[in-house]
Amino acid sequence: MRLVLTENLTPEMTLARNVYKMGCVYLKAGQRNISKYSERLKDLGVDYVYIHDEASEGIEIPEVVSEGTRHKCQDVLRETFTTIENNSPIDVNMFKTPVNTLMNEIMYNNDVQVSLTDISSMDEYTFGHSVSTAVYSLIIGQELKLPKEQLQELAMGAILHDVGKVRLDSRVLFKETKLTDAEFEQIRKHPEYSFEILKYCRNLSNDAKMISFTHHERLDGTGYPRHLKGDQLPLFSRIVAVADVYDALSTNRCYRNAWPVNKVVDFLTKLSGTELDNEMVAALIKKVAIFPNGTEVKLSDGSFALVVSQNAQMPFRPVVRVIRDADMMPIRPYTIDLIKDLNITIVASQMELEMEEEDQKKIVI
Ligand SMILES: [Fe+2]
Repeated sequence: MRLVLTENLTPEMTLARNVYKMGCVYLKAGQRNISKYSERLKDLGVDYVYIHDEASEGIEIPEVVSEGTRHKCQDVLRETFTTIENNSPIDVNMFKTPVNTLMNEIMYNNDVQVSLTDISSMDEYTFGHSVSTAVYSLIIGQELKLPKEQLQELAMGAILHDVGKVRLDSRVLFKETKLTDAEFEQIRKHPEYSFEILKYCRNLSNDAKMISFTHHERLDGTGYPRHLKGDQLPLFSRIVAVADVYDALSTNRCYRNAWPVNKVVDFLTKLSGTELDNEMVAALIKKVAIFPNGTEVKLSDGSFALVVSQNAQMPFRPVVRVIRDADMMPIRPYTIDLIKDLNITIVASQMELEMEEEDQKKIVI
């Protein structure tokens, strides 16, 4: 299995993981000749899909959370957004079972490096992002050895952190071009809207509610809405801030493409200790696969390879399968364990090479 840019799909590729649209399976895993759906996938905002082909045979991409659990959480969230839109009171108890399942899977898969790449359609962005933010928050919380009750509160708050976005104008939220100052101001209102929605919720702790209000605050006071600083930032908001930025950058947005994990990690490292809490950044980086299985990378000898498996002690040097030479021509595949062959390094992920320069300059909100 491997991850391929939608525009690079070829007829001999078979879809390896479902593609969802509005909570329903849009294309089912096992679909052959997936390239005939390229245009439709691009229209949906799905820029990458997981496929099976000969070159990636035998490569497995383990996940910390199953597809079923992710989608169960997204379904409950979708229902909650509809309830809020109808001005009805929300019932956070609905999240208890799916959030517990999420927690249990993350605890059970403690030794699995995260290689989550959400391939939901663009209209599902907020739901996919909220669930991923909860997943990354739990991974950080687990690294910090938080007790189970606290992890549960953290996950509930993280999954609901952006509910206030329901009150934003979707034309602004999904705008593909640069936002005006007034539009920026509107977006920056969502933490307050989220808190207004959650503040009277029963069965949600105060710490969990505060996540919605404080997840865009930054350690150095450059965040919003209150420009809190240092010790004023609660533990949960420090955790969710890192999880939120990590997912925002590593997923496709309407205004820019996803960044490859190694670039996201570089970016987080730059913000670590200034805007973001270095303990939380270190906890997450430790658990993510810098070059996830099934992604294509360029090696220092000019050839191209697929990542086969991870070397947890050296995340920058996984086991790779070389599939194309420096002229991009297919070759008879061979395997290199980069932990043993220290003369060769990964110089870039294919995703990084595909990233347009403009995308690299765009800043996250
Ligand atoms: Fe947010």
